[in-house]
Amino acid sequence: MKVLLIGSGGREHALAWKIAQSPMLEKLWCAPGNPGIAAHAECIGLDASDHAGVARFCTSNGIGLVVVGPEAPLVAGLADDLRAKGIAVFGASKEAAKLEGSKAYTKELCARMNIPTARWGRFDNSAGAKAYVEAQGAPIVVKADGLAAGKGVTVAETVEAACAAIDECFDGAFGAAGAEVVIEECMIGEEASFFCLSDGTTALPLTTAQDHKRVGDGDTGPNTGGMGAYSPAPVMTPALVERTMAEIIWPTVEGMAAAGAPFTGVLYAGLMITGEGPKLIEYNVRFGDPECQVLVMRMKDDLLPVLLATANGSLAGMTVDWHDDVALTVVMAAAGYPGTPKKGGIIRGLEVAGAGEDVVIFHAGTARGNGDIVANGGRVLDVTALGQTVSEARDRAYAAVEKIDWADGFCRTDIGWRAIERERN
Ligand code: AMP
Ligand code: GLY
Repeated sequence: MKVLLIGSGGREHALAWKIAQSPMLEKLWCAPGNPGIAAHAECIGLDASDHAGVARFCTSNGIGLVVVGPEAPLVAGLADDLRAKGIAVFGASKEAAKLEGSKAYTKELCARMNIPTARWGRFDNSAGAKAYVEAQGAPIVVKADGLAAGKGVTVAETVEAACAAIDECFDGAFGAAGAEVVIEECMIGEEASFFCLSDGTTALPLTTAQDHKRVGDGDTGPNTGGMGAYSPAPVMTPALVERTMAEIIWPTVEGMAAAGAPFTGVLYAGLMITGEGPKLIEYNVRFGDPECQVLVMRMKDDLLPVLLATANGSLAGMTVDWHDDVALTVVMAAAGYPGTPKKGGIIRGLEVAGAGEDVVIFHAGTARGNGDIVANGGRVLDVTALGQTVSEARDRAYAAVEKIDWADGFCRTDIGWRAIERERN
């Protein structure tokens, strides 16, 4: 099978690494890819926003499956336009991608299908939003309705902070994404990410992970795309996984099909494990980044057949087997991130660092400059390791980080802390 992967981050390097191991694979292309992905795929300068161009590439190269990594092409309808030409795609339709693209869309599905989630209200004007906040009191959560690159959410400790966040949204801080505001009850508990595949009618649970969103040690500082992750999430017991499937995932798959927008692709549920059980914080319609990096390290089975079955509607009866080992990834970011990252610094020592037992270094924002690997983005490398415990995976990952010579790079030093505390008890 010939496969085209869309994307250029650490998530796509992880997907390329895993897909490249498939005995089913004849050839892998990646658009646009990165220097790490280039070890597993032919990287091509195909513009993912040119849907007709992507379709032409697929037809002339006999592509049997397109795997879309990030959400933006899905929200833009790439999967729909390729399917209309008879090309198999792993990824959600434009309508189903609203599960990620609009918080209010997801909340309305939750209301229709009785899916446990935070109480909420949606507003298109600041007076209504502020009146609701004043009636509910703090803490309370204010969210721009649309895609805001992970920056549109404020967990407000006071009514004043919530009102300031409402003003920020309606003043255009998030552009069109902030034209509507969703206000939610602040849920208390531990967060976990749950990944599932769905072909529109069937759901296949994959596994769980936890990430670290804040830039600084001790979960401090501004939010980022994720500074590290580990899988599985110890908080997600088998009983909680079963409840999540029954109370959240199945009703989502059924509700989307009933709405005429069957969900195909990967459903990434952000969960809050509250005293009353798992509640949905949000959906994403793609693999997490860097959660994907830890998922593929733990996946025993071939990934390609399940991606294809998801795309073709033949997921029923399939299973995926996982290594018992824990996987943990440490993100190395460029100085300045999540603000303006310092680009261009030369990175050395990757081969030595990646040679360690059960260690894989995935490239995110890297480029080639005069034969060297250089930093070319905010999150640059995902140093990923397996271990029998979270502590062991953590020690291996940080030992590899030590061997990387990159003056502008930094990472958190406490990835996995919550799970490691659990292991100690
Ligand atoms: P989101 O972009 O919706 O995932 O929100 C970003 C982060 O804000 C989440 O990972 C949570 O830590 C927090 N958050 C979002 N919604 C809520 C909520 N209703 N209650 C508590 N925390 C929340
Ligand atoms: N790591 C969080 C995300 O991919 O959304």
